[in-house]
Amino acid sequence: MKFVDLFSGAGGLSFGLEQAGLQPLLGVELDKHASATYRENFSHPCLNEDIFSVSGADIVEAAGAKPDLLAGGPPCQGFSTIGKRNREDDRNNLVGEFIRIAGEIKPRFVLIENVLGLKDMNFVEEITKALEDIGYKTNNYVFTSADYGVPQLRRRVVFVGSLDGLTFIKPNPIFAPSKYVSVNDAIGDLPEILPSEKKYEYTQPPFTDYQKKMRGDMYELTGHEASKHNSELVKAISFIPNGGNRQSIPDELQPNSGFHNSYSRLNSKEPAVTVTQNMSKPSGTRCIHPFQNRGLTPREGARLQSFPDSFKFKGTGTAQRIQIANAVPPLLAKAIGEALLSPSSWTIEET
Ligand SMILES: C[S@@+](CC[C@H](N)C(=O)[O-])C[C@H]1O[C@@H](n2cnc3c(N)ncnc32)[C@H](O)[C@@H]1O
Repeated sequence: MKFVDLFSGAGGLSFGLEQAGLQPLLGVELDKHASATYRENFSHPCLNEDIFSVSGADIVEAAGAKPDLLAGGPPCQGFSTIGKRNREDDRNNLVGEFIRIAGEIKPRFVLIENVLGLKDMNFVEEITKALEDIGYKTNNYVFTSADYGVPQLRRRVVFVGSLDGLTFIKPNPIFAPSKYVSVNDAIGDLPEILPSEKKYEYTQPPFTDYQKKMRGDMYELTGHEASKHNSELVKAISFIPNGGNRQSIPDELQPNSGFHNSYSRLNSKEPAVTVTQNMSKPSGTRCIHPFQNRGLTPREGARLQSFPDSFKFKGTGTAQRIQIANAVPPLLAKAIGEALLSPSSWTIEET
């Protein structure tokens, strides 16, 4: 199954689908840092273009063949349950751009991934209808990443449409909640560092299967660079226990701002909550390291998203954190890709 990835970002979706055995032909991505990351990690091309200026014919030409699957995660800020939801947000039109290109190319299958906020806002019906209008029998499925071995509870909605009238069957979870990969299982082998510090070498062997898998045969560590925090903030967060929150900070050190999930530590024994682009800031959503007095490094964020350590992110620290947070966890994409390739995952009946 050959595929094109629209809004390809760093390539989390492409990477997982490729790991499952699908053949990537092309990524299309507006951001120069994200497309540089994509090119760094794959051997097929990435068009660094605005989707509004690209036609289906341009895509088939750049891909070198007509894809069997058009996949993509149009930007989700307009739907996000984390940010402010706004139905009129212009960025929502990017889903329409995906559907326009699907209509021009008419691949056998389409796959759209998005945040769960979309489920609450009638977009599910609108997207399903828009895909059905161009000939795709479409269903949607909610995935919890931790069910597929990702050390993170990130939930996403995925639409799968088929031109042949087939219905996709959602793959069964691989991990029961009692066996979820925890934060410590995922990042516990990475070197201890202080705010502002970086380390380029591992200092201990991996001690879990997940760490072994992520590390592979890498000996050079990239992206393990902690952001700077002022000394008052470091002192304040030092009072928060593993898995705890700002309630443990003494009154005189309480930060003035923040939301209910700000200034919270990850729980080392559980999967992480959704990793956001503010992962390095203690004021971000539960992103303080379980034992160290700092936010997460890009490499820790990437591990929690199930990117292997060999995957290199390009651009500034901020650009890298955006790419990591935006991505489909590769292990989730791999599970979906394996199901797409399996004849037993398809039926002609309604599910
Ligand atoms: C949610 S991210 C996709 C992440 C990707 N699926 C992954 O797994 O890594 C959406 C991407 O769409 C890109 N994008 C936004 N507007 C675009 C446009 N007009 N044309 C092409 N790409 C665009 C953003 O730069 C961002 O990288």
